[in-house]
Amino acid sequence: MTDIPLVDLGVHHAPRDMRDRIALGFTRTLRFCADTFFAKRYGHRAIVLETVAAVPGMVGATINHLKCLRCMCDDKGWIRTLMEEAENERMHLMTFIEVAQPTLFERLVVLAVQWVFYLTFFGLYLVSPRTAHRIVGYFEEEAVISYTLYLKEIDEGRSPNVPAPAIARRYWKLPDDAMLRDVVLAVRADEAHHRDVNHGFASELAGIEPVARVAPYPEHADDIRAAA
Ligand SMILES: [Fe+2]
Ligand SMILES: [Fe+2]
Repeated sequence: MTDIPLVDLGVHHAPRDMRDRIALGFTRTLRFCADTFFAKRYGHRAIVLETVAAVPGMVGATINHLKCLRCMCDDKGWIRTLMEEAENERMHLMTFIEVAQPTLFERLVVLAVQWVFYLTFFGLYLVSPRTAHRIVGYFEEEAVISYTLYLKEIDEGRSPNVPAPAIARRYWKLPDDAMLRDVVLAVRADEAHHRDVNHGFASELAGIEPVARVAPYPEHADDIRAAA
């Protein structure tokens, strides 16, 4: 079985300036909305929020790609990293859709939120990529917390620990008898990696010390089409 990396739950980027404080305030506001809307329905929460989480990586990759074409410069590996993040978040969605079914209202929320969030984030990334990456870093801090709470729900018997969906077993190279708990551990490790990568990008753009240690990424299937 693939070893799922342990996650440092204490990582938090302390805001250093106004942009960081705006990013943190925006994230805390959205967290409050999600807590109010979903409460402890973690399966539904994961589905709806993963449809949002898969947007920033693709936006960042697109804008960096276009910038590199215009400036005829190297991307320092950012484009592939961001595209991989978007793909990884989409696999989180494809996994949780096997665990819970969104209500019609949640599907309508996804439709509405996607366009608002896509356009807002695109505009923000054009104006301040540093703030955009900081927001994603804070989003991912919250994702690590949410999946830790989901694990607690499973461990204390309030959420059923069902067998891991086949797509998740193939994607994270889990054994045949893997359970949902193993999947949530793997997803949380992915989020911790995104957290550190995005805080690192924001810090690099701000000209400050990047993250000292990036949380290790779990192993994923080499061929995502075979996993799906
Ligand atoms: Fe995710
Ligand atoms: Fe993430």
